Amino acid sequence: MELLALLLLHLCCIGQALAWKHATEAALNEALSSQKYALVACTRASEALEPEWTTIEKEETDGHVVSVDCAAESKVCEKHEISSFPAIRLYQDQGAVTDRYRGPRRAASIQSFLRRILRPVLSTVTDKNLTAFRGVDDVVFVAYLRPQDKVLRDRFSTLAKRYRDRFSFGVTVTTQATSAVYCYNNIRGAEMAWGDSTAVDSLQDFVRLCSSPLIPELTRRNEVEYSSKDKSFVHYFVSSADERDEYMKEMLPLAKKYEEYLQFTTIDVTEYPEMLLVYGQQPGSSKVLSVYHPSNGQIFPHNRMRQASAAVVEQFLLDIIDGKVRPWSGHVSSETDIGHEEL
Ligand SMILES: *[C@@H]1O[C@H](CO)[C@@H](O)[C@H](O)[C@H]1NC(C)=O
Repeated sequence: MELLALLLLHLCCIGQALAWKHATEAALNEALSSQKYALVACTRASEALEPEWTTIEKEETDGHVVSVDCAAESKVCEKHEISSFPAIRLYQDQGAVTDRYRGPRRAASIQSFLRRILRPVLSTVTDKNLTAFRGVDDVVFVAYLRPQDKVLRDRFSTLAKRYRDRFSFGVTVTTQATSAVYCYNNIRGAEMAWGDSTAVDSLQDFVRLCSSPLIPELTRRNEVEYSSKDKSFVHYFVSSADERDEYMKEMLPLAKKYEEYLQFTTIDVTEYPEMLLVYGQQPGSSKVLSVYHPSNGQIFPHNRMRQASAAVVEQFLLDIIDGKVRPWSGHVSSETDIGHEEL
């Protein structure tokens, strides 16, 4: 029995060490010269991508899904001008058309990108398939155009070309007196009309407004964008994409309910460990939450959330409003003098 266990353990670990089988240069060239698409990951010690990529390889069988190890095949990666890793690209028309993927390194998100790019830049929609098309992606734009509005059609088409890797775009004919552009954010469950109540006149701003996530991942790059807002923050600290996914799923209804007053975010502690201290949390922790009022600088850390359920978070928010929770005194000390449970 023991021997068997040992043997199994041995096999498992050898398996793991050899796990990610990359394509050779010849195999890559074959994929690129085929009539079908080639989805290529150029990697270099990119272990986190491996399970995601394996899923994509299994599920996407209409084209070629290959990975290249740029540490071993540096010439190939140089030829394709790969400079940051992992780089994910979709090649079509025997390598003549290239689209770069820029989103999170998650299977579902990469697969949505693939669907999007394989669709025409502007899908033609009719009454019959309009409803289905609105739900085809996380964020979908539809232009309802009068045949004579060629300028708007051109502008919409330019926009679609620029953002086709991130969102889906469709056009349909309208018999209404004016043309209109609508956006459907299916994650938020929100619908927006351009130029309606939105007070933005450029289509570009409209895209940004409609596609902004309800619970963004806070980074150095988007920090400024959110800090200008006159809302309180609910920051949740995560150490993995799974933790973020789980939190998002649970909190979206709550974030929507309080959208007008609160900005929910997640912060990746593996990338920004110092943010824990800024918001009154113990170093090295994750799955903890801090509420921050930019208007008066007050911070309310909740550092013992066994499970971040919407009910627990909402109660914490109500307790803050009722003055039942004292703001953090501004120094991390023993666990007993911070947080919610002391009260
Ligand atoms: C919707 O239906 C029309 C007419 O049948 C078709 O030409 C078009 O390609 C369809 N669009 C989508 C996105 O399926």
